[in-house]
Amino acid sequence: MKKLFAIMLAAMLVLSAGSAMAITVGFTQIGQESDWRTANTDDMIKAVDAEGWTMLYDDAQQQQAKQVAALRSFITQGVDYILFTGVVATGWDEVLKEVNEAEIPLLLIDRMPDCMDAIEYVGAFGGDFVEEGRRMAYWTVNYLESIGRGGEEVNVVILEGTTGSAAAEDRTTGINEVLANYPNLKVADSQTGNFTRAEGLAVMETWLKSLDKIDIVLAENDDMGLGAIDAIKAAGKVPGQDIIIVGCDAVKNAFDSIVAGDMTATIECTPLYSSAVIPLIKDLEDGKTFGREVIHPEEFCYDTDGGIVYSADGRVSEKAVDVIDQRVY
Ligand code: AHR
Repeated sequence: MKKLFAIMLAAMLVLSAGSAMAITVGFTQIGQESDWRTANTDDMIKAVDAEGWTMLYDDAQQQQAKQVAALRSFITQGVDYILFTGVVATGWDEVLKEVNEAEIPLLLIDRMPDCMDAIEYVGAFGGDFVEEGRRMAYWTVNYLESIGRGGEEVNVVILEGTTGSAAAEDRTTGINEVLANYPNLKVADSQTGNFTRAEGLAVMETWLKSLDKIDIVLAENDDMGLGAIDAIKAAGKVPGQDIIIVGCDAVKNAFDSIVAGDMTATIECTPLYSSAVIPLIKDLEDGKTFGREVIHPEEFCYDTDGGIVYSADGRVSEKAVDVIDQRVY
């Protein structure tokens, strides 16, 4: 009898522990525009799954209206946490206040909304996009110097990300801030490629026909850089030699391209936030509280030979070939 009671008690404890952690996370994702985005989605879904929690995932296909609808649906369904990244920076005030009013803890990842100061959130994890842009430009300036082209007049084109997104606006700001100090690097044109390989290719095709000389492509993500490389090859030019291509994200396909001698460098932007998000949710479940700190992960730069300074504080690039095997996305 005593043994039976002990077994029943143990079973009840296991059940109650399980239900204490029966958590539902609503995640409104921007879309599937890039390798980075796929890695970001997979990372979050796998991590929530590994905890035995439930993920309500919504792919907004680049449409702000779909994200707003997903957020409202998460509120109606009474999820325990909401993971949010915004396709564009503006226009979130109302719906995020509704999330706050519903008292659902809000976790911001990747692209921050511009109303951050006016809303409540329990954590914010994302890349420092302005700094990533600065690094793209710093690396370029120092690379030109290293190959004996430091003072040369060169034409730069900028492939921007999605118009109105924090990632695109801030990277463009960072790039232009640094290039302003180097008048020999002239921006011949700057256009959106919407963070996709197909649009990067299309914009580059147009530039190759319309611009007299292109020396450097600064692509605000690797997918657009890879599209530009496709266009450069199709035009009979040699990427990496005739035209220098600098990407952003540091995804596996960019590493392969660098090792093949096509892309010249990539500035890292990590898509992996689950290692920050999951412990935060567990801490919140344990009753801990958090401030409004924005946490930027540590990020690096990878290129063909390494040794190029890519930041104002003197960080030096690493060889892509040395780390390619560790890159999982
Ligand atoms: O917001 C992060 C950016 O969005 C990544 O650089 C890009 O690849 C993605 O689509």
